[in-house]
Amino acid sequence: MNQIRSLRVITIADNMAYKPRLWGHWGLSFLLEFEDSRGRGHRILFDTGGSREAFLHNVREMEIPLDEVEGLVVSHGHLDHTAALVEAVGEGGGVRVYAHPYAFQPRFFENREGKRREVGVPEGEGVAEIEEAGGEILLAREPVEVAPGVWTTGEIPRESFETVPPPSERGRRIIVVDGEEREDVIWDDLSLWMDVEGLGPVVVTGCCHSGIVNTLNHVGGVGGFDGFYGVLGGLHLVGRDEGYIRRTLEAVKPFDLRMVSPCHCTGFRAMALFLEAFPEGFILNYSGRVIEVGETPRSRLL
Ligand SMILES: [Fe+2]
Ligand SMILES: [Fe+2]
Repeated sequence: MNQIRSLRVITIADNMAYKPRLWGHWGLSFLLEFEDSRGRGHRILFDTGGSREAFLHNVREMEIPLDEVEGLVVSHGHLDHTAALVEAVGEGGGVRVYAHPYAFQPRFFENREGKRREVGVPEGEGVAEIEEAGGEILLAREPVEVAPGVWTTGEIPRESFETVPPPSERGRRIIVVDGEEREDVIWDDLSLWMDVEGLGPVVVTGCCHSGIVNTLNHVGGVGGFDGFYGVLGGLHLVGRDEGYIRRTLEAVKPFDLRMVSPCHCTGFRAMALFLEAFPEGFILNYSGRVIEVGETPRSRLL
């Protein structure tokens, strides 16, 4: 398995912003910049936030070179990750777009009164528009190497105690597959992983609806890893009670993480408990953050 030499993660969109001119909003987008094992540089975009306007605003402010992006990976088809797919593809000059086969399916949240709202990829950001903008869509259930040494997880088996997604008292999640409505357990949720020379494997999550324990177990199996250097991204523990979060922390412990940078849908309670569990390895993440993986940031802003 190819290693990569270095990894920098630039947060284009997150719920929080700690910089004056950047915008925070409920959503996620990372630019991954890395050197492959031969020393060649690559850029991969992971998600495009939950607001087209905010994503593009931050791209301009941060001078993100979207035209140099080689590929766009869609973590899953929720609207807070897919608001500017077409714009990113257009500026990238027609890149490859990687996703799970369910990512572009219609999906809804139906409340107890039977009222539905769309929660999938927003209108105007779908398959036809991406192709029109020059994008090539590659849908796969299996792990895919999107650039030398950087892989998607593919579909993640759910084998841990984690309940996916959390049961909702407010209603139910629906996805339409082959014209049929099904309960949506977000099978399209995927993460990225890479083995960084001198550090070890790193997992970059979107919402991590599959659960971080399931995700690490799966990447460990696919990549042949026992431990991980770091985890970075949304952990979707928002709304979970302390017992569930502590159980997650307990299950994550054997992976021996040295860097954790939870953000987006991790939720404040889980962020606080992760900080408590990883006082040295915790890196606060937010719109505008640049994380040189393996280096201690000059400011942790805690
Ligand atoms: Fe999300
Ligand atoms: Fe999500």
